[in-house]
Amino acid sequence: MRSILVLNGPNLNLLGTRQPEVYGQTTLKMIEDLCVAHGEAIGLRVEHLQSNHEGALIDAIHNARETHEGVVLNAGAYTHTSIALMDAISSVQLPVIEVHLSNIHAREPFRHKSCIAPVVVGQICGFGAHSYVLALDALAKHLEESAAS
Ligand code: DQA
Repeated sequence: MRSILVLNGPNLNLLGTRQPEVYGQTTLKMIEDLCVAHGEAIGLRVEHLQSNHEGALIDAIHNARETHEGVVLNAGAYTHTSIALMDAISSVQLPVIEVHLSNIHAREPFRHKSCIAPVVVGQICGFGAHSYVLALDALAKHLEESAAS
């Protein structure tokens, strides 16, 4: 079974109580459980990690080289600022799907730019917790197609 890392960045540990009008009522634990269950249903073993620290997210991406075949990443606000995260993704041979609960393109202009978008397989945003399900499906398909080619 393929192993996937679902990696969540800053402030996402507060989901459920953080700006529910923007991010919904779903907690991070509910999203992680959803990812594990959906992963099982489509043949992926899902592990998950959350950190509020940029360096820890970079370490997790580096470490995933040894342990996982792909990453679903919600980098939170580091999406919009972190060249270091972009470089980390570029430095590993792992497919990464960028995910956001909210539609970042319909929000404040500073959220429209993603530093990591140029180095990920693709971006999914705006579907709340279901964005993660869509990202796992996209990653599974991408890995199947890569294996076949
Ligand atoms: C977010 C969108 C980011 O702009 C924001 O900083 C977050 C959450 C989302 O999932 O919608 O922390 O990544």
